[in-house]
Amino acid sequence: MFCSLLPFFVYLTGTLAVPASHLRDVYRFPNGTWLENIAVRSNGNILVTTLHLAQLWEVNPFNPATGSRQTQLVHQFPKPGMLTGITEIDQDIFVTIVSNSLWMVDLRGTVPVANPINITIPAGTLNGMDTLDDSGKLLAISDSSLGLIWRVDLEAGTYDIMINDTTTATSTALGITLGVNGIRAFGGYLYYVNSPEKSLYRVRLDRSARALGRAENIARGVLADDFAVTSSAVYLAGLTDNVITRVSFNGSSSVVAGGKNSTVVMTSSSAAVGRTRRDQDVLYITTGGETQTPVNNTDHRGGKIVALKLGL
Ligand SMILES: *[C@@H]1O[C@H](CO)[C@@H](O)[C@H](O)[C@H]1NC(C)=O
Ligand SMILES: *[C@@H]1O[C@H](CO)[C@@H](O)[C@H](O)[C@H]1NC(C)=O
Ligand SMILES: *[C@@H]1O[C@H](CO)[C@@H](O)[C@H](O)[C@H]1NC(C)=O
Ligand SMILES: *[C@@H]1O[C@H](CO)[C@@H](O)[C@H](O)[C@H]1NC(C)=O
Ligand SMILES: *[C@@H]1O[C@H](CO)[C@@H](O)[C@H](O)[C@H]1NC(C)=O
Ligand SMILES: *[C@@H]1O[C@H](CO)[C@@H](O)[C@H](O)[C@H]1NC(C)=O
Repeated sequence: MFCSLLPFFVYLTGTLAVPASHLRDVYRFPNGTWLENIAVRSNGNILVTTLHLAQLWEVNPFNPATGSRQTQLVHQFPKPGMLTGITEIDQDIFVTIVSNSLWMVDLRGTVPVANPINITIPAGTLNGMDTLDDSGKLLAISDSSLGLIWRVDLEAGTYDIMINDTTTATSTALGITLGVNGIRAFGGYLYYVNSPEKSLYRVRLDRSARALGRAENIARGVLADDFAVTSSAVYLAGLTDNVITRVSFNGSSSVVAGGKNSTVVMTSSSAAVGRTRRDQDVLYITTGGETQTPVNNTDHRGGKIVALKLGL
């Protein structure tokens, strides 16, 4: 099914961990574009945030190149601005982070409508974000420079600190001050990554989506940014390690795409699983582009969306 719909498989260079036929470039953005995060719509389209351009894009992964309806700019947020996390809070209603402010993006109508949310968090750097409850009221947001996780109640207009301990703390091990980064809620747990610590954690949530006790460490020694969680594994985007690592819940891990000297998923930044029947076994990966020094420069190949067939 996947192959007949998606016939264009990428030619690979460098070290490989998986057969080329499992990987396909979906869409590449212009030089200098760093894709930061990803959310998949219920119609199957992919939303990606661009870090420095403050743009939100929508890409149809089944046919990304045929006309403007397939790949389009959803919204240009105020510039200069930084777009980071994105999460769906209700069908076709998303919240994204624009330079530490929360914005609501309503995709229910024919024209996208974006509005700021009136909650000011005393944040350092809001980065990863996910919805914690079915009603879409509660968000978890990683703050990568304060080294903690915020819990935001959109309905009440309030926020509090969800986790602030050694598992979320910052360090300078990667050359910059950075702590907790990627974050996802799944199956009653909150999963998160501490990038400089190269660790993946999870903590059980109570009914009001508060952390129950201390987080458990699931994996160590894996550099990661954001990630996707499925019922069988966590798929970590490996940033400048240029890989996707699959971590089982028993802690065993293996590289399932890319390699240190490979460009196939170079600077992978996040991942999400497809939501339609056609692509529910496909992991969509965002990358920052083919550069080790990802600034808003223009002279390096831009970030892309890559499809990895998981073979579930
Ligand atoms: C935003 O919230 C503040 C504090 O709760 C309130 O004073 C203000 O009126 C709100 N602004 C808007 C536009 O709702
Ligand atoms: C987070 O915890 C650290 C260490 O205990 C503390 O210094 C810091 O003030 C806390 N941050 C906030 C915003 O409460
Ligand atoms: C962990 O689970 C994976 C399957 O997800 C399995 O292949 C592996 O053998 C398990 N490792 C251990 C140490 O139990
Ligand atoms: C990557 O390339 C460098 C420089 O060419 C080389 O030293 C290194 O062994 C390569 N690493 C892998 C995993 O192939
Ligand atoms: C990147 O863009 C920002 C905002 O436009 C600008 O202040 C900064 O100098 C740029 N950095 C580089 C390296 O071009
Ligand atoms: C994009 O970057 C690549 C690699 O550095 C370069 O070869 C190419 O000419 C650039 N393209 C544009 C349009 O600047």
